[in-house]
Amino acid sequence: MTPDMVLISGDITQRARRSQFLAARAFMENLKPILTFAIPGNHDIPLENLPLRFFAPYRGFHRYFQSRREAQFMFGDVSVTGLNSTSRWRHVQGELSLQRIRPPLERSSKESRIRVVSIHHPMDCAKHVDEKNLIKNRDEVAQLLAETKTDLILSGHIHDPYVELSTQRYPEVQRSMIISVAGTSLSSRTRAGAPNSFNWIEIAAGTHDTIQLTRMDLAADGEFKPVEKKPDRFLKKESGGWSRFD
Ligand SMILES: [Fe+2]
Ligand SMILES: [Fe+2]
Repeated sequence: MTPDMVLISGDITQRARRSQFLAARAFMENLKPILTFAIPGNHDIPLENLPLRFFAPYRGFHRYFQSRREAQFMFGDVSVTGLNSTSRWRHVQGELSLQRIRPPLERSSKESRIRVVSIHHPMDCAKHVDEKNLIKNRDEVAQLLAETKTDLILSGHIHDPYVELSTQRYPEVQRSMIISVAGTSLSSRTRAGAPNSFNWIEIAAGTHDTIQLTRMDLAADGEFKPVEKKPDRFLKKESGGWSRFD
């Protein structure tokens, strides 16, 4: 089965070097004709080269890898919006300008029925130690995502795969959205209990809207295979939010 899109949630390179961007671009070109899009991660802007970091943080990203940092795609009833949470001012934590992200989110809210948003830095995490890696203004972002009827929020950054409903971390936000943090698909920086992986995401709009996420782990034979546990499956409620089902 061929996916409609391969979405890469940032940290394409280790140190934003030309050779690393070129290798990533070659990898993406190999996936053609599948549509691919990557949002930048904090590792895709220079860390130690301070003049470059402050004056032209995305120069390598644009020169050697991809022309856009943010974009929106429509697949029938489904929209996918990639947003840039990296900042030249901060390395670990991300942030989003509400003013900048509001227009594309409002567009997706009007023009699609299921709305996927991809942000490098996560809105939630499994382990307390990763709290420092979350989006800095996450409460306001959660409110705006709910207001613009976001359904699925995809992130990367911490390499620790996780799927949860937003109501757990943001009980004050009325809409229950699906939050997913991807593992690292190809880097050697894996976390305990989480080998290299990616998420296979199936979205169905119909009488019942459903979203299913299957984690594909790298097996000993070098192939990515569905993990033993059941996929995370969600059903859209009458009220518009999501609930889990088996
Ligand atoms: Fe990152
Ligand atoms: Fe990362």
